[in-house]
Amino acid sequence: MSATSNSEFDFKKIIAWALVIALGSIAFVVAMISIANTAKGHKPVDPEAVNLRIAPVATVKIAAPAAAGGAARSGEQIYQAACTACHQAGVAGAPKTGDKGAWAPRLALGLNGLLKSAIAGKNAMPPRGGSDASDTELASAIVYIANQSGGKFKEPAGK
Ligand code: HEC
Repeated sequence: MSATSNSEFDFKKIIAWALVIALGSIAFVVAMISIANTAKGHKPVDPEAVNLRIAPVATVKIAAPAAAGGAARSGEQIYQAACTACHQAGVAGAPKTGDKGAWAPRLALGLNGLLKSAIAGKNAMPPRGGSDASDTELASAIVYIANQSGGKFKEPAGK
């Protein structure tokens, strides 16, 4: 009889411990999952990744430094600062500097004709090529481009 009650006692004890262990491991798993979720939700924000996501598709920066003393900048200075972006490689349908074939029909407009369309802008070309060049500076830049592309324009007066 005592052996029976002993083994019954042991059996209950084993069930009790098994329950404790089972509940303990469920609690442990639940705790681990919630810790993992918390860590996911509070990932530190990577500022570089955010910058990449909100960056504009393309940036065009056009600026020519003003010459000291307010003197007119040379055609080459204006060209290097404001016109190369498109005219060096022929971006956006711009006639390439040095491409005589592309420039011949345009040169026929004469410096005044080209200056007029450069001031106003033409199709993909923004007014003044997007620069802050004065009329004279713009004309110098056109002479600079034109004379590398088969033109024989004179530097504009008033320089
Ligand atoms: C954003 C690009 C861009 C920039 C910057 C730019 N151009 Fe242009 N340019 C063009 C394109 C495109 C054309 C061709 C327009 C057309 O005929 O459809 C053009 C055409 C011209 C022409 C010919 C106009 C005509 O009547 O045929 C001249 C002259 C000219 N550019 C001068 C300049 C000068 C000088 C600068 C710098 C101050 C400049 N461009 C900067 C894109 C540009």
